[in-house]
This record gives sequence, structure tokens and C-alpha cells, in this order.
Amino acid sequence: MYQLKVIVASTRPGRKGPAIAKWFMDMLNEQSDFEVELIDLKEVNLPFMDEPEHPRLQKYQHEHTKAWSKKIAGADAFVFVTPEYNFGYPASLKNALDFLYQEWSYKPVGFVSYGGLAGGTRAVQMLKQVVTAMKMVPLVEAVHIPYFTKYMDDEEQFVGDEGHVRMAQGLLKELAWWTQKLEK
Ligand SMILES: Cc1cc2nc3c(=O)[nH]c(=O)nc-3n(C[C@H](O)[C@H](O)[C@H](O)COP(=O)(O)O)c2cc1C
Repeated sequence: MYQLKVIVASTRPGRKGPAIAKWFMDMLNEQSDFEVELIDLKEVNLPFMDEPEHPRLQKYQHEHTKAWSKKIAGADAFVFVTPEYNFGYPASLKNALDFLYQEWSYKPVGFVSYGGLAGGTRAVQMLKQVVTAMKMVPLVEAVHIPYFTKYMDDEEQFVGDEGHVRMAQGLLKELAWWTQKLEK
């Protein structure tokens, strides 16, 4: 069974990322290609990048980096659940990415993005450029959720519609294909 890590990018109080991730994870539980773990960057709580050596060398000096390295090394595939902040993706995610290098390499990454009119697509375009520097394989199929607040219920749960579900199924199919192709 492949190990899929679903990473929640936003960390601010009152963030909606966990609700979107929960909807996506619930869908994942119904299909079997992956064993899934949710990684919440707020809980991981990395400081701003504080390693003296280039991450490519893996000479980590801090326990938080060693723990982060172990977590990401154990993954075969990723889904980043990201909002759009000022037409880009959150600094918390860039920081978490920059801490490591080889642990990300040759692994596929899918995106679940949310926002206003653009549905987080500008954040994802920016992410694609960065993840390829670490030799990750960003997927074309993605879940983009414009005006996502329309789908939040009274309990702050995200309730996706049929279109969102179709996008998620497309992403998962592609993710399974790439994960198998990239298996080491
Ligand atoms: C600093 C900041 C910048 C934002 N910039 C954008 C933006 O460029 N595009 C957009 O669609 N929404 C933007 N928003 C609105 C977010 O889509 C909305 O607040 C969403 O809930 C953010 O995700 P989060 O709740 O997981 O933090 C911004 C929100 C914040 C807090």
C-alpha cells in the first residue's frame, strides 16, 4: 500500500484548510490505493528555516528537522491542501518545503486549492514552479474550489458538490498512476 500524506498548508487561527482537508480525506477513505496520513503544518510547527547546511546534504542539526525529514521520507505521494494568499501560496508551506530536498524528490504531488474567483489556481501555478526544483512531479488533475465559502455549512464543515467530487476522483486516479510509475 502506498503512503499518501495530505498536507494542510494554512496555519492561521480560524483557518478553513482543515475543513477542506477533512472533506478530501473522507473521500479517500472510500478508496484503497493509499494509506493516508494528514499532516497539519500548524501542528508540525516548524520555525523559520534554521538549518545551516543546504538540505540536499541532509546534515540536519535540529530535532524538528530530523522529525520532519522522517515524516516526508516515509511518503510515496502528496496532496497539498492550499489557500491563496495575495495570489500566491502561504509562506508556511514554502518554509516547510525548503527545510528538505531529497525527501520530496521523485514523488508526485496533487493539489486541492480554494479561494475566491480564482479558486486558488494562482497559488497552485506558483507551487508547481517550486516543487519541480525539488524534482517532484506536480499533477495536472487537481481540485480547485472557487468561492469555497458557499460550501461551508453552519458547523464550518466543507460540503463539496458533484463537480468537486469528480475533480477529486480525477486527481486520485492520476496520483495512483504516477505513484506506481515513480515507485523506487
Ligand atoms: C493574507 C490573506 C491573503 C488572501 N489573499 C487571497 C487571494 O489572493 N486570493 C483569494 O482567492 N483569496 C485570498 N484570501 C482569502 C482566502 O481565500 C480565505 O481567507 C481562506 O479562508 C484562506 O484560507 P485559510 O482559511 O485556510 O487560511 C486571502 C486571505 C488572507 C488571510
